[in-house]
Amino acid sequence: MAQDDQLKKLISHCKEYGFIFPSSDIYDGLAAVYDYGQNGVELKNNIKEYWWKFMTRLHENIVGIDAAIFMHPKTWEASGHVAAFNDPLIDNRDSKKRYRADNLIEEYRDKLYAKIEKDVEKAAKRFGDKFDKEKYLATSENVQKVQQQINELTARYDKALNENNLEELRQIILDCDIVCPISGTKNWTEVRQFNLMFSTKMGSVSDEQSTIYLRPETAQGIFVNYLNVQKTGRMKIPFGIAQIGKAFRNEIVARQFIFRMREFEQMEMQFFIRPGQELRWFKYWKTMRRKWHEALGFGSDNYRFHDHEKLAHYANAATDIEYNFPMGFKEVEGIHSRTDFDLGQHQKYSGKNIQYFDPELNQSYTPYVIETSIGLDRMFLSIISGSYTEEDLTVDGKADSRVVMKIPPALAPVKVAVFPLVKKDGLPEIAQKLMKDLMYRFDCRYEEKDTIGKRYRRQDAIGTPFCVTVDYDTLKDNTVTIRWRDSMKQERVAIDKVADIVSENCDINNILKRLADEDIELPEA
Ligand code: GAP
Repeated sequence: MAQDDQLKKLISHCKEYGFIFPSSDIYDGLAAVYDYGQNGVELKNNIKEYWWKFMTRLHENIVGIDAAIFMHPKTWEASGHVAAFNDPLIDNRDSKKRYRADNLIEEYRDKLYAKIEKDVEKAAKRFGDKFDKEKYLATSENVQKVQQQINELTARYDKALNENNLEELRQIILDCDIVCPISGTKNWTEVRQFNLMFSTKMGSVSDEQSTIYLRPETAQGIFVNYLNVQKTGRMKIPFGIAQIGKAFRNEIVARQFIFRMREFEQMEMQFFIRPGQELRWFKYWKTMRRKWHEALGFGSDNYRFHDHEKLAHYANAATDIEYNFPMGFKEVEGIHSRTDFDLGQHQKYSGKNIQYFDPELNQSYTPYVIETSIGLDRMFLSIISGSYTEEDLTVDGKADSRVVMKIPPALAPVKVAVFPLVKKDGLPEIAQKLMKDLMYRFDCRYEEKDTIGKRYRRQDAIGTPFCVTVDYDTLKDNTVTIRWRDSMKQERVAIDKVADIVSENCDINNILKRLADEDIELPEA
């Protein structure tokens, strides 16, 4: 399926089944802002729980906070966001459309990568079983030519970004013959910087002094609370502070559904360490965060690291964990070694001493920080795109199909749906009693309308791992039919065993226990 078609299908599925709606839908939506529906909010809450418990329960030395969205305006001067939280913009004079110059170049480079993949696919078909991909990549003249183009482009592009050379970015766009997708022309303006922070006024007086910003990252709420938490929690380095909350960015090119939004949620953890230990902890968190993603079972091939060439103003090492979204591999989480930049800056701007006294070293220092920062909405998108499955169920020429969301059971919005076979003869009463027993432990649904087949399909579409049917045999022997979502296998089980089966397969703690067992030693630098 073409990438665009896959994303379109996902968007319409999310709307049809109560996962995600455009914001203010009755007014035709608001660009790059979305609302989560009845199933979306449950999935989102489960992702949060998975992350929060991993951070704060599996790590004795990580605690959580919930800081306000509004912060003192000096925060954003200190952090560098007022001066440097910019995107390079370019306009096409014919279509009057605005683009991010860096995105135009990266998309062009993605097309070059796609060329190589297409070439490989063709060769694989041509050579059949004898095909050796590694050898082909190393020897094909065509591939080598395109790879050289990619390497040259990457070197030039990284240099331009590092030097903040806007003219060179424009020149790359011109040299690569990149055209506006709307007008098809190369009639480009200069490249300019655009600050991404939303600002508003606080209080009744509207002057320069009252300008405040909607936070563009949750991290600063952690930095300004670092000392409060360290002192009141008697935390000893190394320790971490975790937070989940909204962030806002006035993204110029907000596309690809919930991948790039103007209002979104982040789950960030700042890990405070001794200076000089940062590369060891950076490696540790890289490994642990990747394990956290892979534990969901979407296949390790669908994740990769992308180490940064261009480092943000605060970082001395950075990597992205990328997921294979319908539009290709893209960042879902960033891991950054932020040095002592942020704490140092807050110390300078606030005039308060926020150094840590290390009793083991008998010395004070400004801690270094490793940050893990994941977009909750992007994580959501990775899960629904990995879960969306179309299955052909045609048997003996009788056409049938289903769309099933193979969401990891621990994260599924609804864990179990309970159906009476028919709406009479005491079956609804038994089903409702079962539902009442289960509802304290699991998110459940009760349904009695339509055929059982139709009810199964509706639950498949929202990813419910189990459906339980109460029928006439239940009256005789207290058994029910339990149906597994992915295999569609049906089993007869005692009614009082249902809760155990659901729990065994849907408990988030089972994944967390496996992760706890996989904890690693602090690697060497
Ligand atoms: N505190 C560091 C920080 O904010 P970032 O790489 O700019 O770093 C971290 O953002 C994560 O936040 C990204 O990996 C992404 O998942 C998410 N994110 C960033 N901008 C976003 C947007 N406009 N819409 C949705 N998610 C976004």
